[in-house]
Amino acid sequence: MNVSEALKERRTIRKFNQKPLPEKDVLELVEYARLCAYPANLQPLKFAVIQDKEVCDKIFPNTKWAGYLPDGTPKENERPTAYIAVLGDKTIKDSFEVESGAAVTSMMLGALEKGIVSCWIGALTREPIMDILSLDQERFSLLYLLALGYPAQESTICEFSGSIKYFEDENKKINVPKRSFEEILIFKK
Ligand SMILES: Cc1cc2nc3c(=O)[nH]c(=O)nc-3n(C[C@H](O)[C@H](O)[C@H](O)COP(=O)(O)O)c2cc1C
Repeated sequence: MNVSEALKERRTIRKFNQKPLPEKDVLELVEYARLCAYPANLQPLKFAVIQDKEVCDKIFPNTKWAGYLPDGTPKENERPTAYIAVLGDKTIKDSFEVESGAAVTSMMLGALEKGIVSCWIGALTREPIMDILSLDQERFSLLYLLALGYPAQESTICEFSGSIKYFEDENKKINVPKRSFEEILIFKK
């Protein structure tokens, strides 16, 4: 998959096949995040990779899925097989929004080349996850989890017609409305 295909075809996937991911592939995603553009090159993020099934099982109840879908939460045999926790290192700076955006986007796009799909999760109960991972709360902020796995769901874009809410169609495919190019391009000179 080339870069423009990845940019156009990446969709959030929330149901995963249970085949484990090769550790080297998951670690390589962190390498992509390491090489991102960061403001003032401060590189304030740290990452934790979780593939152990027991730990993944403990994390899962602290995540929320697909707020617009009645049945969007992965069932037991559809859960992510790996997570990457994206952490802000408060000894370097104290705000991380731009940085986490860059890092997560690189990891999501890079994953596609390996056949790995993802869901960027912000709806987290952070404290229990920090405890499960034995992370130093003084030093680190848990920004996001990137949930990973091989796909057991399809998702595609559809035309925006008044609602931004994604929905599941009769074939169980997720449809994600995207505002039109004409709407978002204010002008070209
Ligand atoms: C910062 C951020 C946080 C998100 N948090 C969640 C989340 O907690 N749970 C979830 O199911 N999806 C989450 N998503 C995924 C969005 O719902 C998804 O990106 C959006 O619906 C557009 O779909 P697409 O990624 O397929 O284009 C999050 C996305 C972003 C960028």
